[in-house]
Amino acid sequence: MQFPSRSPEDTQNLGRRIGRLLQAGDILLLFGDLGAGKTTLIQGIAQGMEVPPDQYVRSPSFTLINEYRGRLPIYHIDLYRIESADEMADLGLEDYLFGEGVTLIEWGEKLFPEQKTDQPPLIPINNRVEIRLEIGGETDRTLSLSPYPQASASHPLFALQ
Ligand SMILES: Nc1ncnc2c1ncn2[C@@H]1O[C@H](COP(=O)(O)OP(=O)(O)OP(=O)(O)O)[C@@H](O)[C@H]1O
Ligand SMILES: [Mg+2]
Repeated sequence: MQFPSRSPEDTQNLGRRIGRLLQAGDILLLFGDLGAGKTTLIQGIAQGMEVPPDQYVRSPSFTLINEYRGRLPIYHIDLYRIESADEMADLGLEDYLFGEGVTLIEWGEKLFPEQKTDQPPLIPINNRVEIRLEIGGETDRTLSLSPYPQASASHPLFALQ
């Protein structure tokens, strides 16, 4: 499923639509270069999940994990600074991933050995939604959503038009 975006607002709008459809236990992995719009999309998702505007959504660069309270708990994780499987293990991601909240991970490629997303991830995440953001121009982006494994395509998210 592909969505064009022509502005940060477009990306946030799509995020809001995604956020309304997320369910307890959902895991979203976001892939895309610096400035592709991962955090921008997550700001929209947080709004769609009814996070109050006074909970500021920004990249958890130093803390690595931010937590917001919307209609479900949201764990916003940024793996940009993670450089090894050991550092990944120290984060204790399992505590978040397999809880009752929704987990949103920037730089999802870091979860994979040598960042190869066609291999099994370092942490056994069975069902997930992968979102790829591609930069087409200054304000042009293409966002692609795919279920993994294919069986998760029954998620309401994949009825988005
Ligand atoms: N269509 C668009 N969608 C999203 N962001 C856009 C778009 N057009 C321009 N931008 C700009 O691109 C930047 C995206 O920044 P953002 O922090 O969301 O990216 P990111 O993928 O989280 O980067 P990082 O890897 O550094 O965390 C913002 O400055 C935003 O204004
Ligand atoms: Mg970011």
